[in-house]
Amino acid sequence: MKFYSDNVTGCAPEILEQLVASNSLKAMPYGADELTSAAEVAFRQVFESDLETLLVATGTAANSLALAAIAPSHGAVFCVRGSHIEASEGGAVEFMTGGAKLVSIEGDAGKLLPERLEAALADHDEGASFRKPAAVSITQASELGTVYSAGEIAALASIAHGNGLKLHVDGARWANALACAGTTPAELSWRAGVDVLSLGATKNGALAAEAVLFFDSQLMQGVRERRKRSGMLLSKHRFLAVQFLAFFNSGLWLDLARHANAQAQKLRGKLAAYPAIAIVHPVEVNLVFARLPTGLTEHLAQGGAEFHQRKDGAVRFATSFATTDAEIDALIAAIDDFFESRKTNDRPADFHIPRSTPI
Ligand SMILES: Cc1ncc(COP(=O)(O)O)c(C=O)c1O
Repeated sequence: MKFYSDNVTGCAPEILEQLVASNSLKAMPYGADELTSAAEVAFRQVFESDLETLLVATGTAANSLALAAIAPSHGAVFCVRGSHIEASEGGAVEFMTGGAKLVSIEGDAGKLLPERLEAALADHDEGASFRKPAAVSITQASELGTVYSAGEIAALASIAHGNGLKLHVDGARWANALACAGTTPAELSWRAGVDVLSLGATKNGALAAEAVLFFDSQLMQGVRERRKRSGMLLSKHRFLAVQFLAFFNSGLWLDLARHANAQAQKLRGKLAAYPAIAIVHPVEVNLVFARLPTGLTEHLAQGGAEFHQRKDGAVRFATSFATTDAEIDALIAAIDDFFESRKTNDRPADFHIPRSTPI
C-alpha cells in the first residue's frame, strides 16, 4: 500500500537490465560516448525534431537549468501557485537564474488558464519591479494530476510568444500526460509552441534520468557550461543515456505510463463508490486526490498505507508503473474494514455508510 509518490518504486526491470548490460563497456566520460550520441538521435526521432538535449539526474536540475537558459537574472517567470518550481525546489530556479522572480498565478485544478496568464502579464509592472517578463512555466501533467491538451498549450504559447516570453514545460510526468492525451510527442510539445521541455523518466521507471529538450538550439547557449558549474554533469554520463534508450525502446515509456494511469483509474473507480469519499480533481494520470471522512486517514496510516497528506486536508494517492492490483485491493480492504467497524460505533458528522456495504 505504498501510494506516497511515484518515486517510491525502484527501476523498471527493462531499464535496469540495460544498465547492467552497459556496465561492462568502457566509454569516454562526460557525454562524449556513443550511447549519449545514440540517445540524442533517439530524442530527435521520438520528437520528430532537430532538438538539442541536456541530460541530468534530477527534475530540479532539469527545471532550473531549463529556466536559466530562457530567463535572465532580472527576469520574471510566470507559473501556477504551488507548482513544483515554486513550492518544492528549494529556490533552485531563483538560484540557477541568478535571481529571476517567480510570479505565481492561481491555477485551475493545477492548470494555468490563458485569461489568468494574460491578466498577470497585464498586471506586471516592469518599470516599477525592474523584472523583465521572460518565461512561462507550466507543469504537464500538473501537480494536481490534470493534463493540458495540445490546444490548451498552444493557447498559452501564443500568449507567451506574443509578449516576448518563452514557454517551458516541467514534464516530470510527461509520459503520463502523453499517454492520457493520446497524441504524438511532437504535437504535445514543439508543434504546440513549447520552447523547452524538462522530460522526466525517473517517476516512470528510470533509476534517475531527466532530459531538458531545447526545440530551438539558440536557447542552448551557456547551458552545458552551467550544468558543469552547478555540479550536475555526470562523468559516467552514458548511464543517463542508457536509461533513456531503454525508456524509448519499443515504446516502453508509454507502456509504463499507461499502466500507472490505468491503476489510478482503477483506484479512482473504487474510491468513488464510497459516498463518504470525495474525489477532488479529475483523475487523468497517475494521481488520485480525495477527501476522506474523519478517522479514515488515521485508520489507513495505522494499517500501513502510505499516501501524501496535504495541507489542504485532501490526500494524494500516487500509482506507478509498478502498482499492482493486489496493492489497490489491500487499500480498499482497509477502507472496507474502517466502514465495517464504524457501523456499530459513533459516527462522525461526515460519515455515511458506503453504497457497497450492506446495512
Ligand atoms: C512536478 C514535478 N516536477 C519536478 C519534480 C522533480 O523533482 P526532483 O528534483 O526530486 O527529481 C517532481 C518530483 O516530485 C515533480 O513532482
